[in-house]
Amino acid sequence: MTQIKAAITAVNGYVPEDKLTNFDLEKIVDTNDEWIRTRTGIEERRILKDPTKASSDMGAEAVKGLLKKRGISPDEIDMVICATATPDHLFPSTANIISDKVGIKNAWSFDVMAACSGFLYSLTTASQFIETGKYKKIVVVGADKMSSIVDYEDRATCIIFGDGSGAVLVEPNTEGYGIMDSVMQSDGAGREFLHQKAGGSLNPATVETVQNKMHYIYQEGRTVFKFAVSKMADVSAEILERNNLTGDDVDWLVPHQANLRIIDATANRMGLDPSKVMINIQKYGNTTNGTIPLCLWEWENKLKKGDNIVLAAFGGGFTWGSIYLKWAYDSK
Ligand code: UT7
Repeated sequence: MTQIKAAITAVNGYVPEDKLTNFDLEKIVDTNDEWIRTRTGIEERRILKDPTKASSDMGAEAVKGLLKKRGISPDEIDMVICATATPDHLFPSTANIISDKVGIKNAWSFDVMAACSGFLYSLTTASQFIETGKYKKIVVVGADKMSSIVDYEDRATCIIFGDGSGAVLVEPNTEGYGIMDSVMQSDGAGREFLHQKAGGSLNPATVETVQNKMHYIYQEGRTVFKFAVSKMADVSAEILERNNLTGDDVDWLVPHQANLRIIDATANRMGLDPSKVMINIQKYGNTTNGTIPLCLWEWENKLKKGDNIVLAAFGGGFTWGSIYLKWAYDSK
């Protein structure tokens, strides 16, 4: 029997137009361009300024363009998985709302919450459904309006995050291309170092939670950094090892864009030449679930059928993981 693999067959991205540069941030908090660039690699990020728009609007833009590129209609989609840490509402799912905005009517849809690793968790989930042979077209979309939970008085977090969305279409492939392997991990003990304190069932919104700024991102940066460096590198090295690959066999590393120093450490550990690492953190900052599909979108023209690609991420939870895939098409 021919083995079915799950392959990415189209990719698209969407970022809002408004830019927030390091120089803009210098006017808001006690920071400077040089510190931000050398500590994180970020120069500017995009912000969804329209208060009537949310993560689903960016996600819907990414998905509409995706279907157009692939030349298929919304009716053909079987499933929509949205990775987001900034859902429009606690319920219903943002995937539901995106489906509605795009006109996807024959699919079931749900969100995956795994902070910055959500896109990889979602892609792995989609691959399992595709490999059964029952599902033919699954949209995986990462969308985050991080500016909605960033405290622009906290210089340690407001410099990092930006808004954006990216989407991929996942389809069956019987020629040996697509997702070859994935390693996903989590450790809930890490939650104390990166979380949003209120708004969930533990601390529902009250006047006090708002006054105490409990609806913003809380991050102990140095601790998260330490775990991110070791775990993202560990899991990337592990996926190479168990697939008998070395850095020379890898054509591209697509890392989550949280901090350039974390990316460099991962590439180093894999023995990768820096020219093989997708980096756009300088333009967009950390868009959480948008980072990896936004990289694929921007590099799509350079990708060739058969390229060995490793995706890797680390995020709140803690969650982390890596995916090894063989790219399935030459872009036109
Ligand atoms: O997305 C997935 C999860 N998130 C991550 O992977 C993020 C991981 N963490 C990081 O990227 C880094 O920890 C940060 C970029 C958040 C912070 O960089 P750092 O090198 O770890 O800085 P730090 O928190 O150790 O702070 C060093 C110093 C402190 O001053 P003192 O105590 O040494 O006087 C901070 O107050 O830098 C200060 N600082 C700043 N200075 C200027 C913190 N933020 C800023 C700032 N501008 N924006």
